[in-house]
Amino acid sequence: MAANWKMFKTRSEAEKTAQTLLSKIEGKVPADREVLIAAPFTALSSVDSVLGSQDWFHLSGENMYPAKEGAFTGEISADMLKDCGCGFCLAGHSERRHIMGESDEFVGEKVTFGLANDLSMILCVGETIEERKAGNVQQVIDTQLEKGLAGVEADIVPDRIVIAYEPVWAIGTGEVAGPEEIKEAHLFVRKKLENIFPDKFNDIKILYGGSVKPGNCAEIIALDNVDGVLVGGASLDGESFSQIVLA
Ligand code: 13P
Repeated sequence: MAANWKMFKTRSEAEKTAQTLLSKIEGKVPADREVLIAAPFTALSSVDSVLGSQDWFHLSGENMYPAKEGAFTGEISADMLKDCGCGFCLAGHSERRHIMGESDEFVGEKVTFGLANDLSMILCVGETIEERKAGNVQQVIDTQLEKGLAGVEADIVPDRIVIAYEPVWAIGTGEVAGPEEIKEAHLFVRKKLENIFPDKFNDIKILYGGSVKPGNCAEIIALDNVDGVLVGGASLDGESFSQIVLA
C-alpha cells in the first residue's frame, strides 16, 4: 500500500501526517501487507523518524539521478536517498515523463542504476487518454516496460522491482479506471513480466494507481494481478491513507 506525496508537505506537515497514520494503523497492519511512502526529499528524514522502525514500513524517494555523484545541479543520488532512510525509489512517474520530459530510455537508466546501488525500484507505466483512444494501451505499456526493465538482470530478487500501472487519465482526476480496464492492463503487465523474468514473474508486485480512495480501494485490490495500490491525493491525509492501508 504505497503513498506518493508528490510536491506536498513541509517537514512538520510530513511528520504530523506520519504520526496520524501510525496512530491509526499501529498493531493492525496484516502480516502480508506492507506500507510505503514516497515523500519529497526534504521530508524523508521526518517521515523516517516516525515510521522508520516499523517492520511493515518502507521509505521511498520520488526520483533519483542515475549517477554516483557529480555536477548535476538540483539532482539527488541513490546514496543520498539511502542516507535519508530510503530503501525504494520511484522511476518513470507520469508527471516526470510528461511534465519533465523523461524518456523511456532515461527511466530505464534510473531503474538499472538504482538497483545496482541497493535501492529497490518502482517502475511506473501507463497510457495517456489519447493513447487509449487510439487503441495503443498495450503498445505503450509494452515499450515502457521493455525499455524501463532493459538493464534488469533476469535473476533479480523479485521484491526489488515493483511495477505501478497508472493510467495518466486517472491520475488526480477522480476518474478511476474501471475493473475491466485495470484487469486487462495488469494481465498484460504480468504476461510481459513472464517474458522478461520467466522464473519470477508471479512474485513481482503490480500496483494500480489513479484516483484510489478509501471507498474504492478494497474493490481494486481484490482484482486479479493487483497486488497493491499507489495513491496520490488520498494519501496526503493520514486518516484517509490509514483507511486505504487497512482496506
Ligand atoms: P492520485 O491518487 O491523486 O490520482 O495520484 C495517483 C498517482 O499519481 C500516484 O503516483
